[in-house]
Amino acid sequence: VAEAEAAAGAAGDLAALRAAIEAFPHIRHREGARRIVFSGGTPGAPLMIVGEAPGRDEDVEGEPFVGVSGQLLDRMLGAIGRDRRDPGADRGVYLTNVQHYRPPGNATPEPEEVAMLAPFLRRHIALAAPRIVVAMGNTPLRALTGQAGITRRRGTWIEDGPVPVMPTFHPAYLLRRPEGKAGAWADLQAIRDRLAAG
Ligand code: URA
Repeated sequence: VAEAEAAAGAAGDLAALRAAIEAFPHIRHREGARRIVFSGGTPGAPLMIVGEAPGRDEDVEGEPFVGVSGQLLDRMLGAIGRDRRDPGADRGVYLTNVQHYRPPGNATPEPEEVAMLAPFLRRHIALAAPRIVVAMGNTPLRALTGQAGITRRRGTWIEDGPVPVMPTFHPAYLLRRPEGKAGAWADLQAIRDRLAAG
């Protein structure tokens, strides 16, 4: 983790951070993945979405959230007036994941792996400088707070870091458990209202 802190901290911009991750010797799953999936959407957008890890479609395309979960995510973002293809601050969004290489079988990253990747995520947030971060599911919640428990923690802003974080359900979870959609919609409205408040 100390090595990750040093490597992440030395990156002065997003391109350098991407290169630091590609060069970091302790990242698992790189061998099994086709490519790094670093980020998507508009760097510098006021809203930054953090997911878990690329899946098969993301690994093929090199872009986060392009598979079935991503299609639901795009509809969720559209419902609060956000579009990853829109470069404007009033509609734009920036997307990344805790883990940048597809794990075999889409396995959930281990807590130790998440702890090692957390300095890269914190640096990514600092360099992208969003006004709000959305932690989609337990993996980004764990990376940013050290704890999981998304069902209990969703819907409440985490205000103790440099940028306010809203934890909410991951779209893949919502596809399996549609009863979570009411909570996710409440969280999206809170995000929209906070962005609108300026
Ligand atoms: N699920 C994620 O968490 N991230 C992606 O990029 C795709 C699916």
